[in-house]
Amino acid sequence: MAFRIAPSILSADFARLGEEVRAVASAGADLIHFDVMDNHYVPNLTVGPLVCAALKPHVKLPLDVHLMVRPVDRLIPDFARAGASIISFHPEASEHVDRTIALIKENGCKAGLVLNPASPLSFLDHTLDKLDLVLLMSVNPGFGGQQFIRSVLPKVSEVRKRIDKLGRDIWLEVDGGIKTENIAEVARAGADTFVAGSAIFGSKDYAATIQQMREKLSVV
Ligand code: DX5
Ligand code: ZN
Repeated sequence: MAFRIAPSILSADFARLGEEVRAVASAGADLIHFDVMDNHYVPNLTVGPLVCAALKPHVKLPLDVHLMVRPVDRLIPDFARAGASIISFHPEASEHVDRTIALIKENGCKAGLVLNPASPLSFLDHTLDKLDLVLLMSVNPGFGGQQFIRSVLPKVSEVRKRIDKLGRDIWLEVDGGIKTENIAEVARAGADTFVAGSAIFGSKDYAATIQQMREKLSVV
């Protein structure tokens, strides 16, 4: 299995964002995870398409945009134009989930659905075959640096089974509280893509941290 590591800019130094994404790219990241919060769907406020477009020229890696906003649809064309490769959204934040997935694809991006720790997997019943990515939250969305919620592990395994049964290349990403210490356990449950904010940006040596994560993944 190919594993991907996606540093979340939420824990980066926002005053030096271009430099920070270049640093994690040269430290061996596979994706840049871009957290968008609106102080409405989640109780925090981050950045929008302008900042995404400003970062784009700094990094060749795919931009993995995680929308924690309500409503969702209005922002999709803006993020596609701003250079997003993947756009993921929470089904509870969209009035018409199937329409939002189609809108992301019409705008030339890969589509992801994000499930909170308490969101049921039934959201995947009529959507999985249209998705490129499932993102399972292992914290409640809104803040970096929170504790990993272990009850997501059986959900990861269940989604892995559903993806394998479908036989399509759908990425299974986990977001929240991922560290060098637990990344292998999350991989063993079935995840292939790992968001890590504070674990990477809070460390002194980004390359060493990403390397340690890869070492843990290499023995899964
Ligand atoms: C939380 C965000 C996460 C966050 C993860 O709402 O979606 O991407 O940055 O941060 P850590 O890795 O510190 O839990
Ligand atoms: Zn995120």
